[in-house]
Amino acid sequence: MSSQNHTFEQLHCKEYLVNGKLEKWEGPVSNVYSTIDSNPSTSYSPTLLGSIPDMDSDSAIEALESAKNAFNRGQGKWPTMKVIDRLKCMKRFADKMKDHRDQVVELLMWEIGKNKSDSEKEFDRTVKYIYDTIDEYKNIDRSSSRFEKDSGIHAHIRRGPLGVVLCLGPYNYPLNETFCLLIPAILMGNTTIFKPAKHGVLLISPLLKAFKECFPPGVVNILFGRGRKICPPIMKTGYVDVLALIGHSSSAVALQDQHPNKNRLRLVLGLEAKNPAIILPDADLDLTIQECISGSLSYNGQRCTALKVLYVHESIADEFNKRFSKAVDNLKFGMPWEDSFLTPLPEPSKPEYIRGLIDDAVSKGANIINSKGGELSDNYCYPAVLYPVNNTMKVFEEEQFGPVVPIIPFNDIDKPLGDMANSEYGQQVSLFGTDTKKIGPLIDTLANLVCRVNLNSSCQRGPDIYPFTGRKNSAVSTLSVHDALRAFSIRTFVASKDNIHNNRILKKLLDSNDSNFISTDYIL
Ligand code: G3H
Repeated sequence: MSSQNHTFEQLHCKEYLVNGKLEKWEGPVSNVYSTIDSNPSTSYSPTLLGSIPDMDSDSAIEALESAKNAFNRGQGKWPTMKVIDRLKCMKRFADKMKDHRDQVVELLMWEIGKNKSDSEKEFDRTVKYIYDTIDEYKNIDRSSSRFEKDSGIHAHIRRGPLGVVLCLGPYNYPLNETFCLLIPAILMGNTTIFKPAKHGVLLISPLLKAFKECFPPGVVNILFGRGRKICPPIMKTGYVDVLALIGHSSSAVALQDQHPNKNRLRLVLGLEAKNPAIILPDADLDLTIQECISGSLSYNGQRCTALKVLYVHESIADEFNKRFSKAVDNLKFGMPWEDSFLTPLPEPSKPEYIRGLIDDAVSKGANIINSKGGELSDNYCYPAVLYPVNNTMKVFEEEQFGPVVPIIPFNDIDKPLGDMANSEYGQQVSLFGTDTKKIGPLIDTLANLVCRVNLNSSCQRGPDIYPFTGRKNSAVSTLSVHDALRAFSIRTFVASKDNIHNNRILKKLLDSNDSNFISTDYIL
């Protein structure tokens, strides 16, 4: 697909952030391409967007040492700093980040093919997330700025940092998902090493300077290159305290396996999902189709929360299939800056992979029921609606993470419930129906199989104030503005027996500025 008149100025990122310095990278580089073709008059070729450092294990260890020294076994400036001062640094960063909105949005469109309004939404949502996180940490700090007393023991309980965090994000939300890990990790007093995703990497480069200027040396370290080259040497040292990763469980497991001391390693993981929609006979079909279209195909289905399989009751399957297929064929494919609903896929091998899933399902008895389904081009495979799908097909098992919609008919609710119980995943479900006598008990079961039941609504992560998590292979730990601050910290406290001697010391500590931990100051 061509870019027509939309041009792009190449960006060659030659710096990385370690020890509070933007270091010049003199080693080998990797080119960054967009699958969007910028020269429509010739045969298809991807567009060269720029390049990034192709860093090695020496640089990885340099970043680890930097983070380790900044934490300095809990004695570092950042982990011992007053909360109010850490909040000020973060606010400064968010303010500076806003200056780069246009460039980051442009890069999101070219690097990962996300359409304009969704790219803008990703940027704005991320900035809002940072400000909301600042406010939430104030709330947490306010409620811990006090002493408690039980069984003759005074306690001053706060949340403290965990140590060094290795942070890795996904290509589909290279800014938002990554920052939803990185920002709370930093704010809670940890020190971090961050390697951007393979696609959606150049967009981090405009923010390097802001990171450098807003945080003390070593608190944020940013590396570029291949994960499999950079991350294993870091994990093997045993000095990573938290692995924070949004991506595939195979990467998360491989990285955990490198760590020599697994009990020391905490995990904050957002992994695969195969969220189903269950469509009951009395569902409002107009609403259901609208939600299933956005649920299964917004950003071409490349969302962990996407609806990846639709269970439709047999009694309404013909009608649903007819109307849903028509709605899919009406979706516009085009360039991200035209704000098209369907846009080029950023992974060069994805169209062939999706086509492979379609061919496999067709060879096992499914039909492509929409007329454009499966049309292949250099950077796209038009969404195919497949019916009837069964559990012998690859698309039943695999998280397609792309434009293909499998539909499974059912006449007994135990069919979708059984499949969900047997599934490796347990993130969310969408339930479409009206009769509360049917919906009520179903909700009670579904809430035990997944972590969010969306009633007559597509699955989604937001609003970010709500818990985002999953059962089984879908997640470890919970993320929300509040929960993420908890995930990257631990309760730690000062306890003292209630006697004149101790109380005199506590009083003195409170009246002085001798401890940043012992303080009942209320952050305004
Ligand atoms: O890829 C998974 C994202 O967390 C999905 O977020 O539901 O807001 O698109 P979203």
